[in-house]
Amino acid sequence: MLSKKIIEEIKSKVDIVDVISRYVSLQKVGNNYRALCPFHTETTPSFYVNPSFKTYHCFGCGASGDVIKFVQEIEGISFIEALKRLAKEANVKLELDDTSNFHSLYLRFYSQLHEEYKKNLNDFVISYLKNRGFEEEEIEKYEFGFSPIDSDIPYKLAKKLNINSLRKLGFPHGRDPFSGRLIIPIKDEYGRVIAFGARILGEGQPKYINSYETEFFKKSSTLFLFDISKDKIKNADFAIVCEGYFDAISYHRAGLTNAVATLGTAFTKYHARKIRKLTQNIVLSFDMDSAGIKATMQSLKILLTMDFNVMVVVFEDGKDPDEILKTKGKTGLLNIVQSAIPAEVFVPKALAKKYDLKNSNAANMYINELKEWSEIFKAVPQRNENFKNAVKEILGYDIDFAKSRYFITKGATMLPTLEDMLVYLYLNFPEQFYRLDVDVNLLNFEAQKFFSFVNDENFSFEKLSKEMEDYIKMILKKMENTEIDETFIETIEKKLLERKLENRIKEIDSYLKDATDEEKKVLLQTRMELVRELKKLGR
Ligand code: CTP
Ligand code: MN
Repeated sequence: MLSKKIIEEIKSKVDIVDVISRYVSLQKVGNNYRALCPFHTETTPSFYVNPSFKTYHCFGCGASGDVIKFVQEIEGISFIEALKRLAKEANVKLELDDTSNFHSLYLRFYSQLHEEYKKNLNDFVISYLKNRGFEEEEIEKYEFGFSPIDSDIPYKLAKKLNINSLRKLGFPHGRDPFSGRLIIPIKDEYGRVIAFGARILGEGQPKYINSYETEFFKKSSTLFLFDISKDKIKNADFAIVCEGYFDAISYHRAGLTNAVATLGTAFTKYHARKIRKLTQNIVLSFDMDSAGIKATMQSLKILLTMDFNVMVVVFEDGKDPDEILKTKGKTGLLNIVQSAIPAEVFVPKALAKKYDLKNSNAANMYINELKEWSEIFKAVPQRNENFKNAVKEILGYDIDFAKSRYFITKGATMLPTLEDMLVYLYLNFPEQFYRLDVDVNLLNFEAQKFFSFVNDENFSFEKLSKEMEDYIKMILKKMENTEIDETFIETIEKKLLERKLENRIKEIDSYLKDATDEEKKVLLQTRMELVRELKKLGR
């Protein structure tokens, strides 16, 4: 069994600095080490490693812990799995019989269940697959199976293997949830079956059902077909990432065997890290409906801040790789991948669809939204160039993002913003600050950072980062001689309310695009009321 002593022994024998420096580049500062935090995006380091306490702490996002937690978080694995790896490094023998036995039992269960499901493949399922364009050998190659109607196969098998907890196997108690469905094996990176996806044969809801997550199956770090794509990803030096089982399979069938898929959930940094070991280049191939575009945007933020080069395949709305292969063949699919556009060109195009750019208000919001992205793209000159050209093509004129930022900061040095006032109030009269109803989420990034910093239980002013120190200095200078009196508090209250209203209006605008006529009526009504309230406040 696991004892506290063993855990402590492992922690004392591995060098936390050595382990962490495999993921980030650490710089020695005094007795500590510092780096850009691997758990959130930042440009100034606020991630610290303390070798004497053997801990890490990020003042930016609050991530902290010991070396086990670090490995767990950065690799997206369980505590036990992280412990195992570190034990090996520390040359400490772990008596983990329970879990490691269960792991092999788990794998045996899935492998045998998969065999059973394969045996049950019948003519009906085969013709379904043939209808989807599969040849006989391909059906074998992708190892599809079928769970027969009223199947109790998993239960019999669990009994045979003497496993009591079905939940630990990713199955509910009761009957086989996959009964009557096509079975798609989900494997770990070593090709061992760890879960199943199951599709209804024909139309119906839900279209797919998956095994529950287990100790050995986490959707957030599993990539479908990763086991057979690894080599090609490395050799071709890029990976194609799509969102459906059949999408990834379609790419493989077309010869692009460097395609993997997420499992109906968001693309995560854990997925990204797996790919990162093989290549720095990714082609994103998500659907182009609004959910798919949203997923693409989120993935892009993760990937670009992890220094990936990303291209995006632009499908017509409603089309996916599976459909393209069916209608246009292998060459059709290859062509579409070849016409993928760089992330920095995709983003302004995709965002433009959300706004009616003839309306100057909407155009302003569009530019504001792009500003955030310009910060991400500007790190690479070519990206920055492509981005600006794409924006120009859409708007018909040049936007100097650097300059408009400059303008804002310049303006701000004269007029204190809501954020300035709140930080100033907090620094001078925290008790007054706490009497206000402040929703920190409505504040700008820097202020949010400030408040998360000072609210940290380990906070002390000596620990301030240089960046934070400069920020505070700037505010103190700007607010020099400001008196904190009733009027000051009233001004803040008014500004807070304004901010809240503006935010709700923004929210409504983002819903409007996809709303039905009926919904639009309600949304516009609410919007009008909000604008009226804003005007009452003197805006
Ligand atoms: N998905 C899921 N559960 C659902 C629907 C979808 O887990 N009820 C996941 C599956 O991994 C699926 C992916 O989301 O592959 C994409 O879903 P969708 O685009 O709806 O399906 P397609 O991949 O186009 O499926 P098919 O071609 O079989 O119709
Ligand atoms: Mn499809």
